[in-house]
Amino acid sequence: MYTVRAIWEWIYELLKKYTMTNRVKSTINAMRTRGAVAPSSKFLVRKMLSKIDYSHDLELLQLGFGSGVFTRGIVEKMTPGSTLVIFEVDGKCRKHEIEDDRIRYIEDSAEKISHYFGDRQFDHIISTLPFASLPKRVSDGILQEIRQHLKKNGTFLQFQYSLFSKKDIRMLFDDGPRIDFEILNFPPAFIYETTNVGTRVL
Ligand SMILES: C[S@@+](CC[C@H](N)C(=O)[O-])C[C@H]1O[C@@H](n2cnc3c(N)ncnc32)[C@H](O)[C@@H]1O
Repeated sequence: MYTVRAIWEWIYELLKKYTMTNRVKSTINAMRTRGAVAPSSKFLVRKMLSKIDYSHDLELLQLGFGSGVFTRGIVEKMTPGSTLVIFEVDGKCRKHEIEDDRIRYIEDSAEKISHYFGDRQFDHIISTLPFASLPKRVSDGILQEIRQHLKKNGTFLQFQYSLFSKKDIRMLFDDGPRIDFEILNFPPAFIYETTNVGTRVL
């Protein structure tokens, strides 16, 4: 069976073979990195964010900012003493940045969490990264970073348009992932929820 990533790689190789210009190449790379055709709906944001208890101070990590729809939902819910670190690799997203003293916005790849934070761990990690379309080396590296920087009993939340990443996440956390679904999104999306049960030795 073809995976989303395999289809992307096939398109890329095909275009490369038939004299792909630098402009086409960078457009395709941008589409792979963005991994979405439209911003997430308020229904998806609400359902995904409802899986965390925000009633006490939390150190949160968000991977993939896009136009900030998830961030706006998070800052509305989190306590004044909570903090939110965001990794977003695409410089164009800066224009949507949200002014809030609790936020630290890092314009870099989520592969570099350790580079910025050493061995610091976060209470919960919320990701909108398009794992299925990112190169395997990149998504494997980021998943390792997520595992390393999530506190014991912390929740890792991720939405995807397919179930292809389920196996990779299960292998890393020895838990779930529990799957929820939101039809009122374009395209409809699966929500993966995993707890760091702490049994897997890093
Ligand atoms: C599906 S979009 C999410 C957009 C927005 N959060 C939403 O739901 O509408 C994925 C975002 O992840 C970002 N991204 C992709 N690879 C990344 C990486 N390695 N590190 C950080 N951000 C990345 C993309 O630039 C894009 O903004």
